[in-house]
Amino acid sequence: MAKVGTDIYKAAELLNNDELVAIPTETVYGLAGNGLKSDTINKIYTVKNRPPSNPLILHIASVNQLESLVTKIPEAAVKLADKFWPGPLTLVLPKNNVVPGIATAGLNTVAVRIPSHEMTLKLLSIIDFPLAAPSANLSNRVSPTTAEHVHFQIGNKIKYILDGGQCSEGIESTIIGFQDETPIILRHGALSIDKIKQVVGKVLTKKDHNTILAPGMFPKHYSPKTRLIASDNIKQTITGLNGFALAVLTLCPDNHNTLDNEIFKTCLTNSGDLSEAAYNLYDRLYQLDKMNFDCIVAEFVPEVGIGISINDRLRRASN
Ligand code: TXA
Ligand code: MG
Repeated sequence: MAKVGTDIYKAAELLNNDELVAIPTETVYGLAGNGLKSDTINKIYTVKNRPPSNPLILHIASVNQLESLVTKIPEAAVKLADKFWPGPLTLVLPKNNVVPGIATAGLNTVAVRIPSHEMTLKLLSIIDFPLAAPSANLSNRVSPTTAEHVHFQIGNKIKYILDGGQCSEGIESTIIGFQDETPIILRHGALSIDKIKQVVGKVLTKKDHNTILAPGMFPKHYSPKTRLIASDNIKQTITGLNGFALAVLTLCPDNHNTLDNEIFKTCLTNSGDLSEAAYNLYDRLYQLDKMNFDCIVAEFVPEVGIGISINDRLRRASN
């Protein structure tokens, strides 16, 4: 069983010995190992039961390290890194030979970010390799935002969980690739597209291209064990679910009054603030999953800013 603690040096020692350690980031917890060693990366895929076709993100401590991993950094990538690193932004760039093919699922690009969690930045500064770290959950399950969530999912498979408290963003990083020099969004995440556009102007979306893919962005993902239905109209959705033990998850309590008293209701925020909703989202799903409902009916949030990313996760959780 994994120990849970705050000893950065112990984490570094384990990582130096090619073991895996769960690490806190500002987005979600990662399952980390030496990102330059194929054997260690292989362990990550095994623990998560992750398909080998789904590439990993390398976490680094400084922009200098980026230059040793990639062959080209477009101007727009420099601007984005300057503005948002450390932070919840991942850049996908052409990889060089030091990055093992298993980290990138055989692609000729690599995903990289500098996370902004103090403990993990310190950890990255005392080891001399990047950390490959997917979210520290079993493949397709809900991403962990506390050490306890990690323990629940994979505690029996790793030795150490570095406990950095609850992740401040609560939803994965936004992933940006480049088509020629133009940024293209590969995964919506904690950094809103509006903020990215303010720095680089144009950002392509999936609709604009069909060549660059983000492998691993399966339609079904981020799912609790309990069946989840995401809905624009919970009242109507519930009508079709008569006889089932239901839990309703809404953005704020306002929307509860019109629903049957018998139904269990919870919300992502009291205020309706979307950042707070992202912060709470995965924890709510973990809590609801423990309560053995037949079905969770989750209400879509307004499709603006970080709400776009929350809805993306709800959609995938409900597929
Ligand atoms: O916030 C995050 O990004 C967290 C924390 C731990 O940093 N990590 C995370 O990793 O969400 P993961 O493995 O759950 O998701 C990584 C995703 C892949 O599923 C894939 O969609 C994309 O990153 N990705 C990785 N390498 C890529 C590449 N070379 N080209 C396109 N997409 C890539
Ligand atoms: Mg993940």
